[in-house]
Amino acid sequence: MENEQRLSQRHLLGLEHYTAGDIRLILDTARSFREVLDRPIKKVPTLRGATVVNLFFENSTRTRISFEMAEKRLSADTVNFSASTSSTQKGETLRDTAANIEAMKIDAVVMRHSCPGAPGFLARNLSSIIINAGDGSHEHPTQALLDLMSIEDKHPGGFKDLRVTLAGDILHSRVALSNIYALRTLGAKVQVCGPATLIPRAIGELGVTVFNRIEDAIEGSDVLNVLRIQKERHTAHHFPSVREYHDRYGVTLARLKEHAPNGITIMHPGPINRGVEIDSEVVDSDNSVILDQVTNGVAVRMAVLYLLLGAETVKGENA
Ligand code: CP
Repeated sequence: MENEQRLSQRHLLGLEHYTAGDIRLILDTARSFREVLDRPIKKVPTLRGATVVNLFFENSTRTRISFEMAEKRLSADTVNFSASTSSTQKGETLRDTAANIEAMKIDAVVMRHSCPGAPGFLARNLSSIIINAGDGSHEHPTQALLDLMSIEDKHPGGFKDLRVTLAGDILHSRVALSNIYALRTLGAKVQVCGPATLIPRAIGELGVTVFNRIEDAIEGSDVLNVLRIQKERHTAHHFPSVREYHDRYGVTLARLKEHAPNGITIMHPGPINRGVEIDSEVVDSDNSVILDQVTNGVAVRMAVLYLLLGAETVKGENA
């Protein structure tokens, strides 16, 4: 694959400053890599010789494995860092940890951290390419990109005027913010829904419509992206109990039958708390694309790695 088109940014720290052209380029490139994943030999030599470090300071199943798989599918060398078994436990700072890893001659860092802005801090202090794999409640750009790819699979007519609802713990969700930036950039109508205590007060400034009743949000939506309650980030009680949250905001088959009788695309970034924000019957229903999102995640991460690293590390023969 020739890498002639370039992204406008050197890093992927978030989608706030990615243009419609950038997002379109990533999605189109991901479609080419999606096809590679269906081949008997799911590997291309595109990033041979490049070294990527997966620097994870927070737990992850999907994002971590998906990035590692994407790196391997592109023939890059990969190294996995886990904070719990590293010298950060002995007091080493993030800056020193990252500088020492970079001294081993690497090309890119994929970083997950609980602190919003941590990938941006690395980008200012290292010379490697930095890819944000989720920073606290801030952004999760590759999740939003794979969400967009999955939406496009089901709604190939384009994003313009498509109505997408993000439901749940919007206040603490990095997935929500990245989705809002990217969907708005591509012209979709974005709605958020949840208890008032879990919706940021200024969210209207991002061009989204706020709903406090899940029934109202479902009606007229083409896509419902259900988000987990991020208990680990809560510093106060935002609703009386999990049971009451499910009663008022849970996505159930009964609610969908009544308020989306013509069908609605069901998404969830995972991990899912079945029976809390969404019922098992909905997760496993024909309208659900939740596992397709995971498959698309590998292709999207291949595209991001290829477009960011390919521009700097691939010297002709592998491109
Ligand atoms: N969707 C997502 O980020 O999942 P993980 O936390 O398992 O990576």
